[in-house]
Amino acid sequence: MRIPTLETQRLRLEPLGPAHAPAYLDYVVRNREHLQPWEPLRGDRFFTREGVDEEIARIAVLQERGEAARFAAFERDTQYLAGVTGLWNIRRGVIHAATIGYSADAAVQGRGLTTEAAAAVIAWAFGELRLHRIETSYQPTNAASARVLRKLGFAVEGYARDYLYLNGSWTDGILVAKINDGWQAPERPHAFISPPHPNGATLDGAAELRYGLPITRRCSRRSPSR
Ligand SMILES: CC(C)(COP(=O)(O)OP(=O)(O)OC[C@H]1O[C@@H](n2cnc3c(N)ncnc32)[C@H](O)[C@@H]1OP(=O)(O)O)[C@@H](O)C(=O)NCCC(=O)NCCS
Repeated sequence: MRIPTLETQRLRLEPLGPAHAPAYLDYVVRNREHLQPWEPLRGDRFFTREGVDEEIARIAVLQERGEAARFAAFERDTQYLAGVTGLWNIRRGVIHAATIGYSADAAVQGRGLTTEAAAAVIAWAFGELRLHRIETSYQPTNAASARVLRKLGFAVEGYARDYLYLNGSWTDGILVAKINDGWQAPERPHAFISPPHPNGATLDGAAELRYGLPITRRCSRRSPSR
């Protein structure tokens, strides 16, 4: 999937890639304590250059398959990596949905930067990607995240007990979503999930439409007539 650089008034959101490894390493190290309560438990390796390279490579595979898009948000004035915002679990078929996630550097919180970054990602997702639904959850104690989502126009849909395993324990989640009321169907519904799989498999658009989930199948080469 082609992921563009997004520009906002104060931010430049670059698709996270290998060139960002030094800045991303610095980001995760300096924000380790700040982010730990809201994230999966991370081993020490995650906070090394090798760990960050592995994480970026893992994301690259998902981005190639059209299943995720993660952006490094740099302040345009200072080039400071102010946050990370992205979509994961992008699904097509009958749902055209994704989950949004974000974090902000501890030092720049409260300036509206995460809201600005997420708004740009949502606009891209509802526009170019033609997603119909963006969903996420936040812990009942995460007042800052609740506020971000409220400012972005998300609506509460439910409460899930023991929803996510974060920081070493199951945490409840308030489920929220934002709907693209102006949704237009992609010209080719599976256009964003059809690039060749890195392992040589292809995503079967017809099966994906039928079952609402990407289904991989092995194939050596498509015949020219198909
Ligand atoms: C949640 C997080 C991404 C917000 O980033 P941010 O850049 O500060 O977000 P914004 O500035 O766009 O908006 C934050 C809003 O929350 C408000 N806020 C912050 N702390 C708050 C609190 N304890 N109680 C109520 N509101 C709070 C801010 O005042 C602001 O609202 P305002 O613009 O109306 O004043 C950041 O705090 C963070 O990285 N937290 C840890 C990771 C995390 O929680 N990720 C999300 C998991 S669901």
